[in-house]
Amino acid sequence: MQGNSAAQGSIKLKAENLTRKFDRKPIFEDVSFTLTSGSSTAITGRNGSGKSTLIKIISNLLSQSSGELSLFDADKKVKRENVFKYIGFVSPYLNLYDEFTGYENLKIISDIRGSGHGNIDNVLKRVGLFPRKNDLLKIYSSGMKQRLKIAFSILHKPDVLLLDEPTSNLDIDGISIVDDIVKEYKQDRIVIIATNDAHERSLCENEINLNENISKRKEQ
Ligand SMILES: Nc1ncnc2c1ncn2[C@@H]1O[C@H](COP(=O)(O)OP(=O)(O)OP(=O)(O)O)[C@@H](O)[C@H]1O
Ligand SMILES: [Mg+2]
Repeated sequence: MQGNSAAQGSIKLKAENLTRKFDRKPIFEDVSFTLTSGSSTAITGRNGSGKSTLIKIISNLLSQSSGELSLFDADKKVKRENVFKYIGFVSPYLNLYDEFTGYENLKIISDIRGSGHGNIDNVLKRVGLFPRKNDLLKIYSSGMKQRLKIAFSILHKPDVLLLDEPTSNLDIDGISIVDDIVKEYKQDRIVIIATNDAHERSLCENEINLNENISKRKEQ
C-alpha cells in the first residue's frame, strides 16, 4: 500500500551482493545491506565511487549487473512494476520540464504516478515555493529548482526516500527544510542520502561507504 504502510514499520529493502559494471569495469561489487522502516543511511565514498549509481539502482532507473535487490511490504515482496509507488527520490539527474510551471510539473508527475493532485499545494508550501507555483520553471533559480525536486520526492509520501545530494544549491532555509523532512521520514520510513557533505551525513544514523567496498577487495 502506498504512503501509509511504513507507519506500521513494515517496509524492508534488501540488497544482496549488488554489483554494477560499466563497460565491464566494476564500479562497486558485492554490496549487501538490509534496511527497515525507521532508519536513515548515508551512502558515502569519493567522487565516482558509485553513490548516484546505487541510488539509481534502488530507484529502479538502472539495473544492477548482478545481485538481488528486493523490497518487502509486510514481508511480501513488492513486484518490480510497483516499486515506484514506494520510492521518492531527489537526484541531480532528475530532469524537470522548463516549459511548465512548478505546479504543472508536480501535476504531470502525479498523473504519471496515478496519485491525486490533493497534496500538491501542501508540498509547495512546505518547500517555500507556493507563492511562485505559477511561474515557469525556466525562470526558477537553481535553489528553487532543487526545492521543487524535494517537493517532487515527497509528493506521494513515499515509504523509501532516496536523496542524492539533497541540499545542493540550497540556502540556510532550504537546508533546514531538508533537515525537517529527513527527521520526519526517518521516524517510520527508510531514508537514504548519497553524499559527500558532512551536514547531510550527520542526518543519518548508519553509513554504507563505497570506498571500503572496492579498497577491501584490492587488499585481498
Ligand atoms: N552511463 C554510464 N556509462 C559509463 N560509466 C558511467 C555511467 N554512469 C556512471 N558511470 C561511471 O560510474 C562511476 C560512478 O559514478 P557515480 O555518478 O555513481 O559516482 P558518485 O559516487 O555519485 O560520484 P559523485 O561524488 O561525483 O557524485 C564513475 O566512474 C562514472 O564515470
Ligand atoms: Mg553522485
